[in-house]
This record gives sequence, structure tokens and C-alpha cells, in this order.
Amino acid sequence: MNIVVLPGDGIGPEVTDEAVRILDWFVTKRGLPLRMERRLFGAAAWAAEGTTMPDASWDAIMAADALLFGATGSLDQKHIPAEERRKGSLLRMRKALDVFANLRPVRAWPALAEVSPYKPRTIAGTDLVFVRELTAGVYFGTPRGIQTLPDGTRWGLNTHAYTEAEIARAARFAFTLARTRRNHVTSVDKANVMEAGALWREVVAAVHARDFPDVTLEHMLADNCALQLSRAPTRFDVIVTDNLFGDLLSDCAGAINGSLGMLPSAALSDPGPDGKRRALYEPIHGSAPDIAGKGIANPLGAILSAALLLRWTARAPAEADALEAAVATALAAGARTADIALPGESVLSTRGMADAVIAALEHP
Ligand code: NAI
Ligand code: MG
Repeated sequence: MNIVVLPGDGIGPEVTDEAVRILDWFVTKRGLPLRMERRLFGAAAWAAEGTTMPDASWDAIMAADALLFGATGSLDQKHIPAEERRKGSLLRMRKALDVFANLRPVRAWPALAEVSPYKPRTIAGTDLVFVRELTAGVYFGTPRGIQTLPDGTRWGLNTHAYTEAEIARAARFAFTLARTRRNHVTSVDKANVMEAGALWREVVAAVHARDFPDVTLEHMLADNCALQLSRAPTRFDVIVTDNLFGDLLSDCAGAINGSLGMLPSAALSDPGPDGKRRALYEPIHGSAPDIAGKGIANPLGAILSAALLLRWTARAPAEADALEAAVATALAAGARTADIALPGESVLSTRGMADAVIAALEHP
């Protein structure tokens, strides 16, 4: 299997190096047939080759079995022409790969209960996953733009639009996933005030009634969902929602772990004619310019994204379980990067944290 690695900007290369090192461990020690190749894009490619998306990178991305992505976003990009920035953008990759289902698992790691801003007994046992629709909705809808009306008034315009087909495939993905978990789906919308939200609710209910009556479905308004995520996160299993609400609510749920650096994600397409899904794995965090270059970033979001790659692309669930268990073991043994350390606790580097995970893999 061919994995194209796109380290990107800021801490992207630092955390991605560690995720690749972990995948290499599975290649050497468990014989998984993964081949990792690094490619340039974005600001780094602009500096090296004068384009944010060299043809060779684009061809490799389109041909890959999966992408392992670090982070994008660099102050340097201000000098890059807008057209070039779009060409090398993450949004363009997601759209071209049609990776509409964005999985964002959130679990409460018992070892980090004291780091969380929530009460330990509120979050204990939390194990939920967002299915965020990723390639439609208000981030993509047209018309859009900043326009000037004849009377001189300027207005910023975005269009929040969903087709039935876009909603139905997100719903199907969520119900199918729920069957492998606790069989419960919460569909989140603003059906009370948004037209696309009303259609969202109608289509999710229809897909449920037709093909997934064995799964429990509840509908929830997005504002209430934000409240319930902080009050009682353990009540959720699979949460399916649109691009905008999924963006906001998954960050909200992300606070459960106390650090953005802990959160992985996968963006998946439906299986193509060859039976394979397109897949882009990345930690949820950005390029973190405030800590870049210091070797102190938490690599666990990237490493747990590699676990999702083992599960969904390599189809190696036992190895994915082993990696997630190794992260839990390392945390339980006290491994901490600065973002998840309490005052006075000793702190590991980015590399040191990955070493702790590898040690836990070797001595489970
Ligand atoms: P950010 O996620 O880069 O950083 C937010 C805060 O979390 C910072 O204080 C940072 O130090 C901390 N943080 C993030 N990841 C961490 C890790 N692994 N370990 C320890 N601490 C960590 O978000 P911010 O600052 O809003 O954006 C910075 C740049 O990243 C921007 O250019 C933004 O556009 C871009 N970005 C890119 C994303 C992506 O590549 N998918 C997602 C979010 C932002
Ligand atoms: Mg976000």
C-alpha cells in the first residue's frame, strides 16, 4: 500500500515524522505492506519549486492508497499569490478526493482526567465519534463572495446548501459505523431555522427508516448538542452533522482531552469501483506557529491518525487496537508532552512521547 506523506508547515513535519516512525515499526515488526513516500506541497513547495502543488505531488496524491497529512498554515503564505494558495490547499485536496466523511473520534483518556477542564466524573468513559460532512455545505456553497450593492452597501455572502444525495451518503456512513459500535446515532442540525437543516433531518430519517431501522436514531438541535457535549458527553456514540456544525462541535468535544494535540481524524470517500476508499488522515490541530521548531509538540494526534490509517486503509484492526492501547499505556505510565502536563510534572519532547508509545508497543 502506497501512503503519500504530506508534512506541511509548522509542527506538521515534527508530528508527522513520529507518526511515520510508528507506521515503520508496524512494517518492520508486524510485516504490514505499507510504503511511505514524502511529497512537498504548500509553502514548502512554493519555496523549493515556485508552485504550491507540483504536478508530481498532485499525481502522487491522486494515485495514493492514503494520505498522511501534517498541518497547513504558514505566515510565509502571505507572499504567495491567491491562485497558488488555492492550488495547494487542503480544501482542494479534500474536494478532489471526494472524502466527504470526516471521522473525528473523541475519547476520555483516564490518565488525563486531571488535565481536562471538565469534571473527571462527567467525562469518564466518553467514547464518541463525529461523522462530519466535509465536502459540501456553507464552506463550499455558491454564490459566495464579498459584494457591493448599487447603493454602495458591502455584504459578505455564503450559501449553506445540501443536496439530498450529499446528506444521504453522510447518513449511510454514520449508520454503518454505528453498527460496529454501540448502535446509536445522533443527527445534529438546525431544522427549526435552516432550510438545509430541515432537509437534513428529513433525509436522515428516511435513510434510517429504509435501511437502518436496527440502529437507534435521535435528532438534536446543534445548540443543544454543544450543551450536551459539555454536560454529558458519555450519552453520545456516533454524531452525524454538517460541515459547519461538525467543525465547531468537534472542537468543543475536543476540550474533553485538555489538548488539541490529542485529536486524530480521517476523511474517507465511499469505496470506488476498485472497492477502495480514498483517505486522508491528519491530526485536527493546525501548524501551531507558536511552538513550531522546538520539538515540543504533542505527536499523539498524528499517531492516533496513523491508528485510523491502520484500521481503515491497511484493514489491520488488531494493529490499530494495539497502537491505541500503546498510547493509553504510555499515558498511564506518565508520558506527557508540555500541553498535557500538570504543573511540576516532567515533560517529554515530541520524539520522547513517540518513543514512549513504541516502548509500550514492544512491551504491551
Ligand atoms: P493550531 O491548532 O495551530 O494551534 C492552537 C493552539 O493549540 C496553539 O496554542 C498551539 O500551540 C496548540 N497546539 C496545536 N497543536 C498542538 C500539538 N500537537 N501539541 C501541543 N500544542 C498544540 O491553531 P491556530 O493557532 O488557530 O492556527 C495556526 C495555523 O494553522 C493557521 O494558519 C491555521 O489556518 C492553520 N490550521 C490548519 C489546520 C489544518 O492543517 N488542518 C487546522 C487548523 C488550523
Ligand atoms: Mg476546526
